[in-house]
Amino acid sequence: MVPFRALLPTLALLATADCTFNWTTCDPAQFDSSAVPVSFQCGTLDVPFDYTSHNSSEKLRLKLIKAPAPLKSKGTILFNFGGPGVANRDDFTTLAPTLIPLTGGQFDLMTFDTRGTVDTIPLKCHRDPVQQYRMFFSQKPSNSSETSLGELWARGTADAEACSINAGKSGGVLTTAFVARDLMQVVDALEEDSLLRYYGFSYGTVLGTTTAAMFPDRIDKMILDAVQNVHEYYHAQANFEEWELSDELFSTIFCHCVEAGPELCSLASYNKTPDELEAAAWDLLDAIKHQPVAVGELVVDYAALKGIFAQSLYSQRFWPSITTVIDYLAFGGENAAIPLGTILSGLPAINTTASDLPRLMNGDSALAGIYCGDNQVRTGSFADFLPVAEKLYRTSSVMGDVPMGSYARCQQWRIEPKETYTGDFEVQTRNPVLFVGNTLDGHTPLKSAYNVSSGFEGSVVLEVDGYGHGSSSVPSQCSLKTISAYWVNGTLPESGTRCERSVEPFTSDWWPKVFKDAGVNASWIAE
Ligand SMILES: *[C@@H]1O[C@H](CO)[C@@H](O)[C@H](O)[C@H]1NC(C)=O
Ligand SMILES: *[C@@H]1O[C@H](CO)[C@@H](O)[C@H](O)[C@H]1NC(C)=O
Ligand SMILES: *[C@@H]1O[C@H](CO)[C@@H](O)[C@H](O)[C@H]1NC(C)=O
Ligand SMILES: *[C@@H]1O[C@H](CO)[C@@H](O)[C@H](O)[C@H]1NC(C)=O
Ligand SMILES: *[C@@H]1O[C@H](CO)[C@@H](O)[C@H](O)[C@H]1NC(C)=O
Ligand SMILES: *[C@@H]1O[C@H](CO)[C@@H](O)[C@H](O)[C@H]1NC(C)=O
Ligand SMILES: *[C@@H]1O[C@H](CO)[C@@H](O)[C@H](O)[C@H]1NC(C)=O
Repeated sequence: MVPFRALLPTLALLATADCTFNWTTCDPAQFDSSAVPVSFQCGTLDVPFDYTSHNSSEKLRLKLIKAPAPLKSKGTILFNFGGPGVANRDDFTTLAPTLIPLTGGQFDLMTFDTRGTVDTIPLKCHRDPVQQYRMFFSQKPSNSSETSLGELWARGTADAEACSINAGKSGGVLTTAFVARDLMQVVDALEEDSLLRYYGFSYGTVLGTTTAAMFPDRIDKMILDAVQNVHEYYHAQANFEEWELSDELFSTIFCHCVEAGPELCSLASYNKTPDELEAAAWDLLDAIKHQPVAVGELVVDYAALKGIFAQSLYSQRFWPSITTVIDYLAFGGENAAIPLGTILSGLPAINTTASDLPRLMNGDSALAGIYCGDNQVRTGSFADFLPVAEKLYRTSSVMGDVPMGSYARCQQWRIEPKETYTGDFEVQTRNPVLFVGNTLDGHTPLKSAYNVSSGFEGSVVLEVDGYGHGSSSVPSQCSLKTISAYWVNGTLPESGTRCERSVEPFTSDWWPKVFKDAGVNASWIAE
């Protein structure tokens, strides 16, 4: 490890780096920094559009955002929040109040909208906007009806064809290998120690493992949190392992509801066991499949209810919404505290508004451009795809049919990427990587963290005993201490260390309480 002191002579160069990125205070209407003790800076960096084309000077302008360290900075940490395809800069502004304490306030935090996302090389597959809408709106769960699976396959055929005809050039430079090179361009332009500090969540762990495998000598520190099985991501027909604990997590919601009692979870007011409540949820799904329910201007159909089930796996913070919706639609909701319409109107799975649409549509085409380009398997026919669907159904009743359209599309993808990482993920990084996984994560089971960690020399796995996707979904004093100690002092926990959660489901407490209890600098804590 390069001692930080050795960097002091280069500090004079920081002025150059500032100039390179052309940092300016972000427009608060776009990126509001009122919840953090610093003001967000926005900047840009020009990088090669196509790293494989050595004779081309075509540039891509990356859009970056930074939260300068509230204390003296030890360097920059780069973030990726997953998808693939999320709007990193938007997610950064939401998560920054948590990320600043987690990194001890001693790092500049930074991210950028990666290739294929938001307005950085957006993948435009259809010239006609109505066709482009269809590409997005047809992504329904494959069990929405008897005919949905076949429709999703045909939609995948049509969209893969349209993307290759209309977006072939841009679609070839969106793979994770390109983003890894972009990350290193940012590191170079920062003019710190030429080493990467990186924190990736969910798909961000695929980006992290890929970057570490391509540039092992340039990794200073890396946390990979909510780990995807990177082998499946690149080499399987679907991310089967991702959904292995989805059903178990879904069942747990009803146990915690009963435990919390009717005051905190109105669904607990019918003297039913957790199993009976879960059975009522599945009966409701089946009834709604055949007879959707109108609530004011909104309609709750199979796809919408499945969307609510799927959302509940992300974080215990969504559990009151899902249990209240089930309470109303299955039991009448007499004891529910919030009107049903209010809950439904806030759920994008049900109330998709015109203002949400560009973001949602872009997220879907970004997912296609990045994941389909990365994935190295193709399936020749619908008949050969059926076993994939069957295996997903066997893996999870909650999630098995939800992402089907995305897999059907990728299995027929026709754009040839310019570069894909094809190595084995047996990696010796300059410094060891810290993997983090929750005990019960319905999107990325803990076993995937152990799977990927086993290929990373010296890496360790930190377990956080809680529910949801990523440790940011489980407020915990222990993970706060462990994660900030890794960033600030390079301290690794013993592998297999298990952190207790500090906040129980169905209470309204969240990270600010944990920060307060841990004595985090009061001026960093937003209420
Ligand atoms: C830096 O940003 C400002 C304001 O956004 C812009 O006017 C200026 O042209 C930029 N300079 C460079 C070198 O890109
Ligand atoms: C770059 O090189 C390739 C072949 O190596 C060639 O097909 C292409 O026309 C060249 N492009 C430019 C801009 O010179
Ligand atoms: C708390 O953070 C602020 C900057 O946000 C800093 O000025 C102050 O010195 C910090 N206080 C302590 C006790 O570290
Ligand atoms: C849907 O959500 C928007 C805000 O995102 C809100 O203005 C609108 O009233 C909601 N629609 C319904 C029917 O509740
Ligand atoms: C989808 O439907 C099939 C056939 O009815 C059923 O076997 C399977 O369990 C269902 N899977 C999901 C995830 O809904
Ligand atoms: C990791 O997962 C891949 C894909 O499922 C599998 O082939 C491999 O054997 C696993 N490795 C370990 C060490 O468990
Ligand atoms: C880093 O180590 C120092 C010295 O042991 C200690 O005082 C400090 O609390 C540690 N910082 C973190 C964030 O763990």
